[in-house]
Amino acid sequence: MKPLRKAVLPVAGLGTRVLPATKSIPKEMLPVVDRPAVQYVVDEAREAGIEHIVFVTGRAKSAIEDYFDRAFELETILQGKGKRDVLEMLANSLPEPGSMSFVRQQAPLGLGHAIWCARDIIGDEPFAVLLPDVLIQSAPGCLAQMVTAYNEKGGNIIAVDEIPRKDVCKYGVIDPKSQNGRLIEMRGMVEKPSIEAAPSNLKITGRYILQPEVMRLLADQKSGAGGEIQLTDAMARLMKDQPFYGYQYEGADYDCGDRLGYLRAVTHFALNHKTLGPAARAMFEKALS
Ligand code: G1P
Repeated sequence: MKPLRKAVLPVAGLGTRVLPATKSIPKEMLPVVDRPAVQYVVDEAREAGIEHIVFVTGRAKSAIEDYFDRAFELETILQGKGKRDVLEMLANSLPEPGSMSFVRQQAPLGLGHAIWCARDIIGDEPFAVLLPDVLIQSAPGCLAQMVTAYNEKGGNIIAVDEIPRKDVCKYGVIDPKSQNGRLIEMRGMVEKPSIEAAPSNLKITGRYILQPEVMRLLADQKSGAGGEIQLTDAMARLMKDQPFYGYQYEGADYDCGDRLGYLRAVTHFALNHKTLGPAARAMFEKALS
């Protein structure tokens, strides 16, 4: 079994559900308390032992590439002012030089197509996918929990979570066969089913550990739900040849691609913030009283 070293972060989406906030900045750069949303996801990947991150970007997304780079002018000014703690915080938020790649998805053809755009850099290794719209609050992080399961089981593992039945049409949904602790054996999965057709109320949450063979299937994957090339459809095909597990992670997820989900993320990350948490709690209580 090859070790899991690489992760793909698809960041090409337009963020139309949170306009106008995302008109001139990428949705991944929206601040959640004191850092951009994408920083949480990169930290989750690094905590799980990921050594190389492939960002699949698009036009108007260069702010993400600039964010994950040194800022010499800013650093020089901070040095001059003796702001060592701020400089250290900036340095800690930055992955090592050479541990990030950026490829462009030239047309918005779907999540499956975005992942396929990373195929050359992924090569013949297993890889993780983290959808940066989805922030997951947990300790250890969701991907680290999945890596523990992966080191035992191998195969392909996708994070799943229960949702109200009325919401199944917004997500990929798995068809569970049997459950052993947090691991679920599956019969299949389907992207954005109708309530009647949904095989369960277990949604795919936006964290995946996949074998590289999925890239071959994505190369000829036909468009599916919403007229897009869907990762779920390629995974459903790969299931015929390889083991697949759902993993019911411990933690709470917030969809920052949605206005209310974003607000929930800001609220919960503020309440749980190491230094700002108590003040945020007092502030919310006062606002509600
Ligand atoms: C994508 C995936 C879907 C998954 C969801 C999680 O959908 O295609 O399977 O459940 O992310 O947020 P999207 O939100 O891009 O429509």
